[in-house]
Amino acid sequence: MNKNLINISELSKNDIDELIAFAEQFFDGDGGCKRENIFPDKTIANVFFEPSTRTKLSFEIAAKNLGCQTINFDIKNSSMKKGESVFETIDTVSLMGVDMFIIRSSEPILAELANMMPGVKFINAGEGTESHPTQTLTDFLTIKQTKGTLNNLKIVLVGDLDHSRVARSFLKGISNYEENEIVLTGHPDLCSNFINNDKYHYVENLDDALKDADIVMALRIQHERIQSSTEIDIDEYKALYQVNSERMELAKGDAILMHPGPVNMDIEVSESLYHSDKSVIRDQVSNGVAIRMAVLSRFLS
Ligand code: CP
Repeated sequence: MNKNLINISELSKNDIDELIAFAEQFFDGDGGCKRENIFPDKTIANVFFEPSTRTKLSFEIAAKNLGCQTINFDIKNSSMKKGESVFETIDTVSLMGVDMFIIRSSEPILAELANMMPGVKFINAGEGTESHPTQTLTDFLTIKQTKGTLNNLKIVLVGDLDHSRVARSFLKGISNYEENEIVLTGHPDLCSNFINNDKYHYVENLDDALKDADIVMALRIQHERIQSSTEIDIDEYKALYQVNSERMELAKGDAILMHPGPVNMDIEVSESLYHSDKSVIRDQVSNGVAIRMAVLSRFLS
């Protein structure tokens, strides 16, 4: 394994399987994760240039569960406001004794940071529209828990694929596994990179896509990344692309609904389906802590 985790493609199938199995060992049997004082001498810095709830806090809880010291870097009140660059900032913080940076960024900066600072470790907590490796590991753990396997599944990804780093990481990661049927669907204006693309099977009609699915993963409409020239009529979107209980009936009887969050409630997913027993969205959140404990342990070791 590399010293950093920047893209899911850096992990072999064996690495992914081991991280999932390792994460499962951190569950305490009571709905939470064990606390183990394994790395009391390590300091982890969360540096998030974009907002986050799940990823940021689950990394912090995971780090604390492992006995690490944690810093949440406050960008808004830092010397970046006086013009200090990202690279100078990270370098400056590293000189204070940080062992590992957890970074979320709208721009691809992780690889360059890792090259410039070989003595520090970097974990990607979501970068641009390309990469969110620990979300993929969390999603795989959730699928493994419910389906027992990552092979021989029909998996439907629906939503704003163009802006989704979750989708791109998921597609890369799942390519390690066999005999899966992956179907992509969503509003054509939000899936332009996936339509007429030899690599992907895009189906415009959601109902057609959902037939006999094992896994339905809805993705957030990322209003903050959508160009103002792209106008999505929300009522039309809901009529054509909302995953609701009626539509979920088209999938297999034991199909599960996933969403990485945050959910635009009652737009991508109906509220009643979100709260139904088909939804594992809340499990994805809690699994994020165990996965991040596994990732931190492996990459700190
Ligand atoms: N799934 C995800 O990355 O959520 P946050 O933006 O809340 O971290």
